[in-house]
Amino acid sequence: MFQATALFSFTLLALTYAQQIGTNVAENHPSLSISTCTSGGSCTTAAGSIVIDANWRWTHNVGGSTNCYTGNTWDESLCPDPETCATNCAVDGADYTGTYGITANGNSLTLKFVTQSQQKNVGSRVYLMEDDDTYREFKLKNNEFTFDVDVSQLGCGLNGALYFVNMDADGGKSRFATNGAGARYGTGYCDSQCAQDIKFIDGLANVIDWTPSTSDPNSGTGSVGSCCAEMDIWEANSVSAAFTPHVCTVSGQTSCTGTDCGAGDERYDGVCDKDGCDFNSFRMGDTSFFGAGKTVDTSRPFTVVTQFVTNNNSTSGALVEIRRLYVQNGQVIQNSKTSIAGMDTFDSVTDEFCNAQKEAFDDVNSFEDRGGLGAMSDAMDDGMVLVMSLWDDHAANMLWLDSDYPTDRPASQAGVSRGTCAPSSGVPADVENQAPNSQVVFSNIKFGPIGSTF
Ligand SMILES: *[C@@H]1O[C@H](CO)[C@@H](O)[C@H](O)[C@H]1NC(C)=O
Ligand SMILES: *[C@@H]1O[C@H](CO)[C@@H](O)[C@H](O)[C@H]1NC(C)=O
Repeated sequence: MFQATALFSFTLLALTYAQQIGTNVAENHPSLSISTCTSGGSCTTAAGSIVIDANWRWTHNVGGSTNCYTGNTWDESLCPDPETCATNCAVDGADYTGTYGITANGNSLTLKFVTQSQQKNVGSRVYLMEDDDTYREFKLKNNEFTFDVDVSQLGCGLNGALYFVNMDADGGKSRFATNGAGARYGTGYCDSQCAQDIKFIDGLANVIDWTPSTSDPNSGTGSVGSCCAEMDIWEANSVSAAFTPHVCTVSGQTSCTGTDCGAGDERYDGVCDKDGCDFNSFRMGDTSFFGAGKTVDTSRPFTVVTQFVTNNNSTSGALVEIRRLYVQNGQVIQNSKTSIAGMDTFDSVTDEFCNAQKEAFDDVNSFEDRGGLGAMSDAMDDGMVLVMSLWDDHAANMLWLDSDYPTDRPASQAGVSRGTCAPSSGVPADVENQAPNSQVVFSNIKFGPIGSTF
């Protein structure tokens, strides 16, 4: 995630959140299996399931059906303050396919973009579960994470994302007494943007200074954010892709207020590195590598392999390199090599790559400032939760991924051009109207020691 605010477009006019549990709709987690592999290369299937984030859920009064949150505003009588609201309100179960356009089948997950039921839903965000009350925590160091993806139905302005964040395995239920919903209802999200659009954080409603979004009819931001380190394995559409570590000076899920959240002009003053250190092949100088008909042909599915290399080839070593491979049509494709004037050649993310890139592109090095890969290494020691989402971008129209960005720099300046999408593309209202049937398919997730999964 690159942008500061309102990253996720979620809809559901009648839907709200709360920290108690509603019982109007049964919560049944769709099954999604993954494979765990051993160094010999043999893999076994592990049962699992997914859960949709609490932010997308209907939030209503406990025991009833009066909305606590409607559109992008809170009900003032049910939610006069954070504590009262958490006591009064419940998040309900989800109709995954009917309301949210989410289907899981065997080892395959499809997230659809716009789903029209009684309301219009835009995008979704789901987490992989170990069991019905617990997110699966991955220990990524000295391991390899692999999945197949179909981005052929994702155009400019869309982002089918697969990433890891430092959420609590139980969604914060044991740390925060007023969180009665826990992981079973998808609570406890955090990311490196210090998400302020989360309705309940640390078991409390984010109602203080809640400001409805001017462009998103279902979203707003409160005075509290939820921060944690984030390893973006995959942020992509059919035009561009990036993988990006983002680090924080706080460890584990940590709420923020004020400057610590790094909102707006305070972007580089917060506890997290909002820019991250991204490897986007197009931005790094190989414009023929990723896209329809290119070396990695996005008109058809392919496999994405990410390796987390440590300094002593052991899971307890320090993370020093994040490597990327692709597999398509049975052919292993090495990552593209950087080709930027004045910068050495790299094909992976290391601290050296990050420092050279920030220098070459004249970007603020907020990644190094907050500890670089060493900080990512510490975050990985805690275990990280797998997130899969599909979203459009009310803050920056996804231009940071697939077009020219920032918009106040000339496209000819090094590091500005990131893909072939027009600078006018990616406006959420346009994307939702013109490409409502967009979707991403993630499948065949495999996890194991480096070299074991492909
Ligand atoms: C780790 O493994 C790589 C690849 O097998 C090897 O090149 C490297 O020397 C090893 N490093 C250490 C510290 O053992
Ligand atoms: C790898 O490094 C870690 C941290 O320094 C250390 O605890 C561990 O024993 C090392 N493992 C090996 C196999 O050298």
